[in-house]
Amino acid sequence: MQAWVIGNWKQNPATKHEVNTLLDSLLAAINSDENDTVNKVTHCQLMVAPSCIHLAAVSTRLKDTSVLCAAQDISAHSDSVGAYTGDCSAQQVADAGATWTILGHSERRQYHQESHDVLLQKLTHALITNLGVVFCIGETQAQYDAKQTFDVLDKQLAVIKSLLNQELEQQPEFINTLNERLIIAYEPVWAIGTGKVPTVNEVSATHEHIKHMVAGFAVPLSNISVIYGGSVNAANADSFAANAMINGALVGGASLKADSFLAIANAFSHTKA
Ligand code: 13P
Repeated sequence: MQAWVIGNWKQNPATKHEVNTLLDSLLAAINSDENDTVNKVTHCQLMVAPSCIHLAAVSTRLKDTSVLCAAQDISAHSDSVGAYTGDCSAQQVADAGATWTILGHSERRQYHQESHDVLLQKLTHALITNLGVVFCIGETQAQYDAKQTFDVLDKQLAVIKSLLNQELEQQPEFINTLNERLIIAYEPVWAIGTGKVPTVNEVSATHEHIKHMVAGFAVPLSNISVIYGGSVNAANADSFAANAMINGALVGGASLKADSFLAIANAFSHTKA
């Protein structure tokens, strides 16, 4: 199974110049004849999600490369146009060159109160527009301490079930292609940007639970990719990559340096080859 290593740049870098510097070093390393990065990362699909303002420029530079470009979010209100100040629609991010979007990141849930209904709208808009979706779920520290992780994840995954219920009626074939267009990212909120990580066994058990839940929604989803996010770095990537339940990584801080991002990609490419 191909691994996914996805860089979520969040509200970084600050300037166009820094975006280009990051891309220069990323593309130079990927294209370099002097090292075997290309060979190493062939079993690993790379993707980066710049902030909306940099999306068009980044996707233009990535156009003829193997690196995919994603948005970090899309509007819940309309998949196209409308009076929604500050929003960018699925159609607009696709037109800017994104082929995927992240949805439901814990920072969106926390700072923008994204609910089940909002996320259902966004998922629907994305998939109708042919954008793949990296759907993020994860528990807080308090929920982890109270051993509520699986309950919390089940509630968050219910959005996928609602999506299937509404889409199944309209488009029976929709579900058969969903495996290729939907990735679940398990990101414990307490592990994001903290340097604290769950054990590989904990992540593995959680991914097994997620896969089991999603397969229960619809049989074709039994091969869904589930990736881990939260303080993944060049030093710990090998241990996550070695586990068969972990199909990749969603990387924040370490994706802002080409060296650490590609080291993570290499770790996943080696073990999934
Ligand atoms: P860090 O890798 O900085 O912990 O961020 C993870 C994340 O939130 C990716 O979406």
